[in-house]
Amino acid sequence: MYLLVLILPLINYFASCKANVNLLDRNLAYSSPFAGHSQACSAIDTNELAKKHTAHSRRQTEDATGFLDEHYPTFYGGDFSNSPTIWSGGLNFTHSGMLLLGDPFNTSVLLWTRAVPVSPPGTTELPDQSVPACLSFNISTSPDLQGNIADSGEAFTSYDVDWTLKVEATNLTPDTKYFFQFSDCTNSSYVSPIGTTRTLPSSDTPANEVNGGSPLTLAVFSCSQYQAGWFNAYGYAAHNTSAEIFLHLGDYIYESLGNGASIGRQTAGRELATVHDYRQRLNQYRTDEGLLAAHQSGPWITVADQSWKAGTADSNDSAIGCEFSPSGACFTDRKLAAVRAYHEWLPIRQVTVDDKLRIWRNFEIGKLLDLTMLDTRQYDRDITDLYYNTVINTLAAFPNRSLMGFEQEKWFFNTLSESQNRGAIWRVVGQQIVFTQLNESGDAWDGYRANRERVLNYLYENNINNTIVLSGDSHANWVSDLAHPNDSTTYNPLTGQGAIGVEFAGTAVTSGSSFGTNIAPAAADVKSLEYVAANLDLQWSEGSYRGFFTLTIDPDTLNATYYAMRNITFANLNGFSSAQFVVNSGENRLSRPVAGGSTLAGALKFNGTQGH
Ligand SMILES: *[C@@H]1O[C@H](CO)[C@@H](O)[C@H](O)[C@H]1NC(C)=O
Ligand SMILES: *[C@@H]1O[C@H](CO)[C@@H](O)[C@H](O)[C@H]1NC(C)=O
Ligand SMILES: *[C@@H]1O[C@H](CO)[C@@H](O)[C@H](O)[C@H]1NC(C)=O
Ligand SMILES: *[C@@H]1O[C@H](CO)[C@@H](O)[C@H](O)[C@H]1NC(C)=O
Ligand SMILES: *[C@@H]1O[C@H](CO)[C@@H](O)[C@H](O)[C@H]1NC(C)=O
Ligand SMILES: *[C@@H]1O[C@H](CO)[C@@H](O)[C@H](O)[C@H]1NC(C)=O
Ligand SMILES: *[C@@H]1O[C@H](CO)[C@@H](O)[C@H](O)[C@H]1NC(C)=O
Ligand SMILES: *[C@@H]1O[C@H](CO)[C@@H](O)[C@H](O)[C@H]1NC(C)=O
Ligand SMILES: *[C@@H]1O[C@H](CO)[C@@H](O)[C@H](O)[C@H]1NC(C)=O
Ligand SMILES: *[C@@H]1O[C@H](CO)[C@@H](O)[C@H](O)[C@H]1NC(C)=O
Ligand SMILES: *[C@@H]1O[C@H](CO)[C@@H](O)[C@H](O)[C@H]1NC(C)=O
Ligand SMILES: *[C@@H]1O[C@H](CO)[C@@H](O)[C@H](O)[C@H]1NC(C)=O
Repeated sequence: MYLLVLILPLINYFASCKANVNLLDRNLAYSSPFAGHSQACSAIDTNELAKKHTAHSRRQTEDATGFLDEHYPTFYGGDFSNSPTIWSGGLNFTHSGMLLLGDPFNTSVLLWTRAVPVSPPGTTELPDQSVPACLSFNISTSPDLQGNIADSGEAFTSYDVDWTLKVEATNLTPDTKYFFQFSDCTNSSYVSPIGTTRTLPSSDTPANEVNGGSPLTLAVFSCSQYQAGWFNAYGYAAHNTSAEIFLHLGDYIYESLGNGASIGRQTAGRELATVHDYRQRLNQYRTDEGLLAAHQSGPWITVADQSWKAGTADSNDSAIGCEFSPSGACFTDRKLAAVRAYHEWLPIRQVTVDDKLRIWRNFEIGKLLDLTMLDTRQYDRDITDLYYNTVINTLAAFPNRSLMGFEQEKWFFNTLSESQNRGAIWRVVGQQIVFTQLNESGDAWDGYRANRERVLNYLYENNINNTIVLSGDSHANWVSDLAHPNDSTTYNPLTGQGAIGVEFAGTAVTSGSSFGTNIAPAAADVKSLEYVAANLDLQWSEGSYRGFFTLTIDPDTLNATYYAMRNITFANLNGFSSAQFVVNSGENRLSRPVAGGSTLAGALKFNGTQGH
């Protein structure tokens, strides 16, 4: 008899706990990027969390009749029915309009939001952060979400994941535009703004039917440093171009503090080391109105941020230990904290269960293109040139050096071949750093020449056509034919004969020019003229303006349009198209004359009608 009394409540306890675990698990922020890992900074054990939340439940002090909800467990033998296991005092969808989507698949998308408990209206009672908040979502093809609901559900978020929520909406129709919204499960008067997203076409959708038969536009960004300027490039892409998918090629946030006070861009906190620091920084970046607009306008696909596999320029795990970290945090811990916060705040998928840092992945966008995202910075890169390390120049040509790591390299080559074999027209490769050899100091593929040679050889030897490499990182614009570096016996820069693809490298959203911070257009063009003269493969160089570029893709042509922002010291949408490039399918080079023979900024190798 006694035994029965004791056991029954326990059974009930675990039964009600399980429902809560399911709703915690539905929020992918708990598991990504480290599902299955138990170390600190890793996946959050949702069983433990659910127990903790229930343990914090307070004994009821109010009338329980209003609580019909399954999120309020009833304990057998005791009336805990008004013990809140979820917060019901109101939510603030912070970063309003900041709903963002990521990694779109053909029948599913990731939906993201952040909702923080607020003091109940008219009270000063501090919100109870010991229990989770419950969010409902729905997704529909109707802009007002009143019908055609394609998927809906509930999930929990909590303090443990910085109140972020990342859910996968499934059973969607390929190549379709959707609207979605979140609300508070306990009170539907707390709602998020309505966001927009889209699914990708199925991999077998004919190239000329992708995007309903219209060209598909991608906007490509890199290097957005808060303290260096306003993110006008993001806003311009959202408001002034037809961009439907947003790619970010690295340095989405910066760890340094900087001094942006003179333009109203002082970063909060300190040099980033802990997960709190990273969350605070991401939170602050997300207040920029240009970034808000871009995240609301469509799905984002991102790669990771700067550093090699065990260090950054000012912190590394060396034989001497962790003492060089300014914060005292070992670099490896710091990286895990960064990845944790990044996966909370950006709707990126964990690619494989057993590899917590892997972010390289491929998207089959109908038969029009494969979008292959590489990690040329974090994953398994050998020691790089980090200001204090000049030995790199002697190491650069060693054949055993790898920028990608050999596992990723093998995967990349297979992906290129599979893409061509399945009949995809274009192979667009998003990665962080400039691929083409440049006679200009830089931390790029120039430090991994054997690795670059292996990539070029693979393209040439396997007749892989229509490969377009996208790069960020360099804080300047560079457009090149892909060919063996500076080899005039196999490549003709005037006609492009002999090339095997094209590289579009884009400048920074805000970070200072590698030609010199705030360098004026005329002074930058002097340097650009030298660069295009010194580098055989380089066809256009521009180093003054901050900005981004778009790719507009159909089965016959892939066009790149570069955009220059006129002034990033305040929020504005004042920009212009500085250069436009055409790549015709099957030609594996820039169409001649390059950029139509003229640009509004920078220097072309052959201007006028040369090379026609
Ligand atoms: C909601 O969050 C925003 C952004 O952090 C903040 O400005 C606002 O004051 C918050 N509102 C409430 C009611 O807490
Ligand atoms: C979808 O959710 C929104 C926000 O919570 C709500 O206004 C709308 O009525 C819901 N639609 C349906 C069909 O449930
Ligand atoms: C829902 O929230 C609104 C706004 O705070 C409040 O006026 C209303 O009473 C709440 N409804 C319930 C059922 O708690
Ligand atoms: C949809 O996408 C998934 C994941 O990329 C892929 O495995 C599947 O083959 C695709 N299905 C179709 C019909 O394209
Ligand atoms: C960009 O769009 C905004 C809003 O539609 C408009 O006010 C602005 O003039 C546009 N900028 C340019 C350079 O066309
Ligand atoms: C780590 O940082 C220290 C101090 O900056 C430097 O002397 C050392 O060479 C670095 N180690 C590696 C492996 O980069
Ligand atoms: C890489 O190759 C260089 C030059 O051949 C050699 O000196 C070095 O020991 C090699 N390193 C490794 C890790 O194999
Ligand atoms: C880089 O260019 C300069 C000037 O054109 C030249 O003197 C130098 O030899 C070049 N260096 C390399 C490595 O090509
Ligand atoms: C790639 O292009 C070359 C030159 O146009 C052509 O000979 C080859 O057949 C193409 N390869 C494939 C797989 O289409
Ligand atoms: C690319 O530009 C060329 C020349 O302006 C144009 O004919 C072609 O339609 C454009 N292609 C796309 C996909 O926009
Ligand atoms: C940018 O705008 C600021 C504020 O109006 C002005 O002081 C500055 O001169 C402008 N910079 C450029 C390059 O036009
Ligand atoms: C065109 O090319 C010539 C020779 O390289 C150069 O002197 C001139 O500045 C270039 N003009 C433009 C607008 O790039």
